[in-house]
Amino acid sequence: MSTIAYLNGAYGPIEETRISVLDRGFLFGDGVYEVFPVYGGKGFLQDRHLERLEKGLATVRIENPHTRAQWNELLDELIRRNGGGNQAIYLQVTRGVAPRLHAFPEGVTPTVLVTSRPLATATDIKPARVVTRPDIRWGRCDIKSISLLGNVLLRQEAVDADCTESILIRDNQVTEGAASNVFVVRNNRVVTPPDKRLLFSGTTRNLVIELATAAGIPVDMASIPATTLHDVDEMWITGSIMEVVPVIEVDGHPVGDGRPGPFWKKIWSLFQDYRDRYSI
Ligand SMILES: Cc1ncc(COP(=O)(O)O)c(C=O)c1O
Repeated sequence: MSTIAYLNGAYGPIEETRISVLDRGFLFGDGVYEVFPVYGGKGFLQDRHLERLEKGLATVRIENPHTRAQWNELLDELIRRNGGGNQAIYLQVTRGVAPRLHAFPEGVTPTVLVTSRPLATATDIKPARVVTRPDIRWGRCDIKSISLLGNVLLRQEAVDADCTESILIRDNQVTEGAASNVFVVRNNRVVTPPDKRLLFSGTTRNLVIELATAAGIPVDMASIPATTLHDVDEMWITGSIMEVVPVIEVDGHPVGDGRPGPFWKKIWSLFQDYRDRYSI
């Protein structure tokens, strides 16, 4: 089914949406992006994603082409044109179109692309099996950069191993997944790696931390040594589209008793309640 995309002020069928071959996003991966779900016609945590987009643009020194109100208007219109309901929104801003020279061009207008695809409502939870892999990415994984070659190669290694995700290890510590954040439970404590430049502080991760804390389940933001990973009671991965997925196997070893555990169940029900209230 064809969907409607937004490109630089115009809405049209995605197949007919074109960018220049000189776009710096195409040539250099010079841009930032956001992905978020729409439930019941309403962008889930849209404000948090826009806040992060604004910060990301400032970090990479791309001028933000829109005010918050304009972003909201544009997104609401795209969601409406794609029929409301449940969708996955992809939004990217690149530095724009210019001759291929590395340094920033002067006087260019950023390219804004927003696309939507239908999002099936999950009817059942599919627990994940994961592998661990060396984190081969750059030193600014806190930026939601569209340059994702490292993440792409790492996710493919998981798929090649018939798994859902690669859990990344740098200097013997867990950073995150190829496209997700990681939580573990050990000795009845929920732990997730701290915000640093070496991982992406995901919206879902941050919501899970807030919901857990408010429900009296403290979350330690502490490093997770790779050597402890085969010995955790529970693990889950988070992301805007996948939500909160229990992990039942790491590198072929069962996590806990090999089934989603009680902490995950509690967190999952808190998350679902929040999401259902939000989309009303
Ligand atoms: C590397 C990485 N970490 C974490 C996340 C999760 O972020 P969010 O919860 O904001 O989707 C993503 C999402 O795509 C990601 O690519």
